[in-house]
Amino acid sequence: MTDLDNRGPAGKAGLDRRTVLQTIGMAGVAAGATSWRGDSAEAAPQKGEPVPDYFVNARLTINGKDYSKAVDPRTTLLDFLREHVDLTGTKKGCDHGQCGACTVHVNGRRINSCLSLAATHDGDKITTIEGLGEPGNLHPMQAAFLEHDGYQCGYCTSGQIMSATALLNEPIGQSEADVREAMSGNICRCGAYKNIVAAIQQVRQGT
Ligand code: FES
Ligand code: FES
Repeated sequence: MTDLDNRGPAGKAGLDRRTVLQTIGMAGVAAGATSWRGDSAEAAPQKGEPVPDYFVNARLTINGKDYSKAVDPRTTLLDFLREHVDLTGTKKGCDHGQCGACTVHVNGRRINSCLSLAATHDGDKITTIEGLGEPGNLHPMQAAFLEHDGYQCGYCTSGQIMSATALLNEPIGQSEADVREAMSGNICRCGAYKNIVAAIQQVRQGT
């Protein structure tokens, strides 16, 4: 067992939310004394730099690969993906749970990764857009978005596709209105909604 294994409660299976929040409170006090960033999570220490005492281990399986990293307990799952393991396909739009650009799957269900703390996902299986398909072997939903031009600038697209693929396993109705309702948490500033719905319906109907 390493020092990091002993570092904090997030290294234990079955981590409860209250424990993480208590640790975050301590982190806020510690960071507030040393950083102008106040409530923001500290970045990962550079190589050779000491790991702050209040950091915890986040151990996640992402796209089938295991990761274990010491992080500020305030690190969101979104920031963990983008800044700690370089999976930048998941986008940060609002960072407040309002746009859906950061949607990923946790154990097969869609969530806004900007609203969830990385350290609370000990043992969870995370899937990001990078784990869904790849050039030459696209997921059917990715192929349908391409076929129907379900995007313009593309910034919302990974979140749209992650929501759309999760939706395939959810008990929603068959109509376009049902799809629009189920996708209402994913905002597209370019207004590609008509084509997005067409892509989703094509996959749902297997046509
Ligand atoms: S970045 Fe997460 S909902 Fe907007
Ligand atoms: S394609 Fe530009 S925000 Fe959706």
